[in-house]
Amino acid sequence: MPRIAVIAGDGVGKEVIPAGIRVMEAAAEGLEFEELPWGSEYYEQTGRMMPADALEILQPFDAIYLGACGWPTVPDHLSLWGLLLPIRKAFEQYVNVRPVRCLPGIKSPLAGRGPDDVDMVFIRENTEGEYSGTGGRVHVGHPQELAVEVPVFTKHAIARCARYAFQLAHERDRHLISVTKSNASRYAYVLWDEVVAEVGESEFPEVRVEKMLVDAMAARMVMRPDTIDVVVASNLFADILTDLGAAIQGSMGLAASANINPERDHPSLFEPVHGSAPDIAGQNRANPIGAIWSGALLLRHVGDEAAAVAIEEAIDRVALQGDFLTAELGGTAGTKEVGEAIAREVKAVLTA
Ligand code: IPM
Ligand code: MN
Repeated sequence: MPRIAVIAGDGVGKEVIPAGIRVMEAAAEGLEFEELPWGSEYYEQTGRMMPADALEILQPFDAIYLGACGWPTVPDHLSLWGLLLPIRKAFEQYVNVRPVRCLPGIKSPLAGRGPDDVDMVFIRENTEGEYSGTGGRVHVGHPQELAVEVPVFTKHAIARCARYAFQLAHERDRHLISVTKSNASRYAYVLWDEVVAEVGESEFPEVRVEKMLVDAMAARMVMRPDTIDVVVASNLFADILTDLGAAIQGSMGLAASANINPERDHPSLFEPVHGSAPDIAGQNRANPIGAIWSGALLLRHVGDEAAAVAIEEAIDRVALQGDFLTAELGGTAGTKEVGEAIAREVKAVLTA
């Protein structure tokens, strides 16, 4: 009986998460969902994004299902450092797994590219790097005001993330691209390159490793996406490249992610890559596929591979069929209708 903590959060999170739950319930029996009313409204009432003991509350769950975090009434750095980022860090969700795959029937903005060309997985280091939170501001309010924000890279965190990426590459095409900027960076990314090479040579000699600079990688994703399979990159670089990946898929609303604590000492967190989208929130317009796909990743993580596969297959079928797509993909369906269509298709897959 997997117990899942649900933080729908802000904006369209409140719409895509119910669609995702509907689909998960169609795919698996006995799931227990517990909704936690945390986020920017909670902040307006309490001055916090989540309660002081939030991590203790979350710890016993098997997984966390999150919609979106952030709203114009709360400064972004407060909302994110009050909810999502502390969960990723405290729960040692040190890899963020982000599949980038074109769906059948959905037009990629890359001319002539489709599911045969675009099928990659990004492994994002998820606890440090440019998100270390190290820094400060001095002379606040004075003309000489100064801010420092220091990226922090440790051998330990690079190695554990690299190991996860190598293992996945081992199971897929035995090809791993490691993304850095170790031409301009003289310290951190040079360490990154060394640690990745070391893990590869000593533990995964069968995996071919390619080093790419992040600027060249951005171009390669557009020009030769068919040459990319598993990618490992730092927190910020993979953040940026996976938005590019979502765009290549055809919509931000399609992209899924899993913040994983591989040791399972803590629950892992599953969320669509998109944000709270205030411009379309509350209008039943958000694409729930990224959230639904994240639900598939969640069920796979808690051990229900059949349910995960059924959801992924149902997403593909609904995408290919084309009658239940949201407006940004050229369709006329609402968030709810897409969720219902995928839930129906899940049932069809499972009873076939
Ligand atoms: C993401 C988001 C977050 C990140 C923001 C909201 C802090 O963009 O999950 O990609 O940068 O990690
Ligand atoms: Mn992002």
